[in-house]
Amino acid sequence: MTSQFIPAALIAAALISAPAFAADQPIVGAPSPVPHPVAAYLPITIAQNKCLVCHREQPEGAARRKGEIPRSHYAAPGQLAGERFECMLCHAESSDAKPLAPVDANEAAH
Ligand code: HEC
Ligand code: HEC
Repeated sequence: MTSQFIPAALIAAALISAPAFAADQPIVGAPSPVPHPVAAYLPITIAQNKCLVCHREQPEGAARRKGEIPRSHYAAPGQLAGERFECMLCHAESSDAKPLAPVDANEAAH
């Protein structure tokens, strides 16, 4: 009983901690940083959102491909949810500035 339980517990622990190692997501579940400069696409206004020139909607019923805007961002097919329209409210432009302190953003997930 105990000899089977220990390997199972180790596998479960490994699976639970796995997302913490996702390379392009410094904080699990957080909006990813924008990996390219954004100045040329700002400001975002009601009349014009240049991010949508390149970033397309994830099709319904299909896995999201890189660069596609997840279904979570849509109120209905073809209709971005209002609170997701201003992309820069959540997606920060990436920066190569040095971290101010050695912070492990996923500490709570370990
Ligand atoms: C000229 C085309 C273009 C425009 C305009 C553009 N992007 Fe991008 N964006 C890209 C490309 C190309 C990538 C890299 C996709 C990849 O990793 O294969 C990318 C990546 C991203 C990612 C990471 C996507 C992922 O799946 O991990 C985010 C977030 C993002 N862009 C946000 C924005 C925001 C916000 C704007 C508007 C301020 C914007 N982009 C405007 C081309 C564009
Ligand atoms: C209210 C905050 C918020 C706004 C505004 C927002 N996003 Fe996101 N975005 C997120 C979160 C959180 C995720 C992580 C996955 C999810 O929730 O669907 C995400 C995921 C993404 C992804 C997939 C890559 C990843 O980070 O996992 C892309 C591409 C993306 N958003 C593009 C956009 C674009 C383009 C806009 C503007 C039209 C936008 N987002 C507006 C919060 C936001």
